[in-house]
Amino acid sequence: MTRLTLRMDGDIAVVTLDNPPVNAISEAVRKGLVEMVDRLDADDTVRAVVLICAGRTFIAGADVREFGKTPVEPHLPDVVDRIEAAQKPWVAAIHGTALGGGFEIAMGCRFRVALGSAKVGLPEVNLGIIPGASGTVRTPRLAGVEFAVDLATGGKPVSAARALDAGLLDLVIGNDLEAAAIDFARQALDADLPQPASQIPLEPMPDAFWQASRTSAAEAGHQAPLRALDCIRFATEHDFAAAMAHERKTFLDLRASEEAAALRHVFFAERAAPKPEVLTGVEPRQIKTVGIVGGGTMGAGIAAACREAGMRIVLIERDDEAVARGMQNIDKIFTGGVKRGKLSEADRADRMAGVQGSTDYAALAQADMVIEAVFEEIGVKRAVFERLGHFCRADAVLATNTSYLDPRDIATGLPHPERFIGLHFFSPAHIMKLLEIVPTPDTAPDVLATGFALGRALKKMPIQAGICEGFISNRILKRYRAEAEALVKKGVPIPEIDAAMRDYGFKMGPFEAQDLGGLDIAFLQREGARDAGQKVPETLGDILMRAGRKGQKTGGGWYDYADGDRTPQPSDTTTALLAPHVSADGQGPSLRPDIARHLVATMAAEGEAILNEGIAQAPEDIDLVEIHGYGFPRWKGGPMFASRDRASGGAA
Ligand code: 3HC
Ligand code: NAI
Repeated sequence: MTRLTLRMDGDIAVVTLDNPPVNAISEAVRKGLVEMVDRLDADDTVRAVVLICAGRTFIAGADVREFGKTPVEPHLPDVVDRIEAAQKPWVAAIHGTALGGGFEIAMGCRFRVALGSAKVGLPEVNLGIIPGASGTVRTPRLAGVEFAVDLATGGKPVSAARALDAGLLDLVIGNDLEAAAIDFARQALDADLPQPASQIPLEPMPDAFWQASRTSAAEAGHQAPLRALDCIRFATEHDFAAAMAHERKTFLDLRASEEAAALRHVFFAERAAPKPEVLTGVEPRQIKTVGIVGGGTMGAGIAAACREAGMRIVLIERDDEAVARGMQNIDKIFTGGVKRGKLSEADRADRMAGVQGSTDYAALAQADMVIEAVFEEIGVKRAVFERLGHFCRADAVLATNTSYLDPRDIATGLPHPERFIGLHFFSPAHIMKLLEIVPTPDTAPDVLATGFALGRALKKMPIQAGICEGFISNRILKRYRAEAEALVKKGVPIPEIDAAMRDYGFKMGPFEAQDLGGLDIAFLQREGARDAGQKVPETLGDILMRAGRKGQKTGGGWYDYADGDRTPQPSDTTTALLAPHVSADGQGPSLRPDIARHLVATMAAEGEAILNEGIAQAPEDIDLVEIHGYGFPRWKGGPMFASRDRASGGAA
């Protein structure tokens, strides 16, 4: 329930907005604020007004849930103008985050006071829109054009200290925000009031500045940052009223766009995924010490991620040499952090001090959770879990990071199977956000809840997946690659397929990506299945592998690579090798958008099958898997969103 309350502190009115959870600006808030300005303007006992928020944050922006609907008066730009035009000066008192429309309201106030821990920003581009209530018009007036461009096109909030430095805040204080804001208001009344933001003049910027800004705004891959830039430029070249009209038109235009709908879909999906409703009220187990078995690529990355979240690590390897290598692998990750300036040398040492390496499983006796990341071989994994069953506490959560094996086979014979779960991390595990959580029929609800809690603690995107080959992620990847190969067989050139997916928004197409990661991993998996007697059809990738073409690491795969150069060059060798399998009748799609639409629809079709089989809980989960695991462009919403209801205009 929205509440705007008023109390008087002498001649200063304190208006408190309480609209949980983040004080978003709904229709009721806009109406309430306008009524409050009118009421306080009419009250002769009031000399200044402090606007402060209850709960965890200042206003976090417009209410995103209203964006799919017709805008209703009073519109936010008018509310901001009304606050700025108030006869008594308003002081915004900011804690938490003042974002988007929340920060625009603060800029309508004559002064802004914030706690040192607060952040302010214009994140609208992350929702496929631009600031719609003077963010592109008032921000450059207060902070200068360059700062405004960074804030509105980059979408990243800045600290209170930076905002103060830029002129967006008037005072930053340590605590007791309300008292400090009241004091500030009282003192401000004794001096000349500054100009309202709308009246601060703006200087045009040189063309070179706009060109450079265009280049960096274009990197996002979708239109909102470029449109925000255009609005700021317009604001520097026209008067306030014209700039506001231009901003409003652009805002409404984008608000109705497919990209904004997609980004809103992702926004809500990302907030829902880490806290599934079925786990409401289920207490996760406490995880303070994590055992990792296997300190290779994945084990080291998982160890680093858990350590970064403050957990202690016990690393188990096969022999002393492997322990030393595993410890080095983890250290390399932290050293990388030091090189990039993210960690100090002392931080690195502290991280490593919390990692104990051993060959003795008895070191896992006190672990709250153990994650296995040894070779992808059922015999090796079973042997590991046999020992874990013997050495670990009966309530320790035991997890496997298997990519393709059936977790039920791995856990066969494990005592207390209710504590077993699949936790499928992605490489590099300390960076990639996706975490597939794979319960078995035996997994206890609190163990599943612990998987999600770990995901949240590691700042990952935890998604529940059922048991099938490749879970959600690798199963869709396999189908995507197979369909890309099918297009090649129909005569569509490999570079055209990659270019189509890049044009769509992926950083890389399916063949470039395989060359980068290596064709050998999937090949070995197919060969293993063939050896086990399964019928796995020969793929074009197999033909390349049998010719020794593993990708970049062998100087060629789908493409050729010149020495030391990662630029893919179309390959005559590949063309010759695949020629017997390629039809010359040109039946495949020839236009890039059609190629991309076809491949995205293929992912969605596999997603549909996955949903029907109960492997995924919701289409949103599939979209998040593709966005966070495989670089699917956020502004397309994921394959399920992009392919929804195509007949009524939802474009892929
Ligand atoms: N509108 C509606 N609901 C919102 C919201 C918004 N702007 N921002 C957050 N919420 C909801 C979330 O959906 C979530 O709901 P749930 O509990 O039902 O899942 C709840 O608030 C809490 O959100 P988080 O889980 O994200 O909470 P955190 O504490 O981790 O983060 C936050 C808080 C930093 C404010 C973060 O929620 C956030 O970044 N919100 C979006 C801010 C934003 O994009 N503002 C701009 C909006 S567009 C705008 O203002 C246009 C204007 O220029 C005209
Ligand atoms: P890796 O070969 O880099 O590391 C495996 C490590 O396990 C080695 O250091 C090895 O010494 C150790 N090991 C082997 N047997 C052991 C035993 N009995 N006890 C203790 N340590 C033992 O392999 P990688 O890539 O880290 O893969 C590990 C697991 O993670 C596999 O199941 C793999 O399928 C899975 N995975 C791999 C991904 C990847 O991209 N590499 C992604 C997601 C999952």
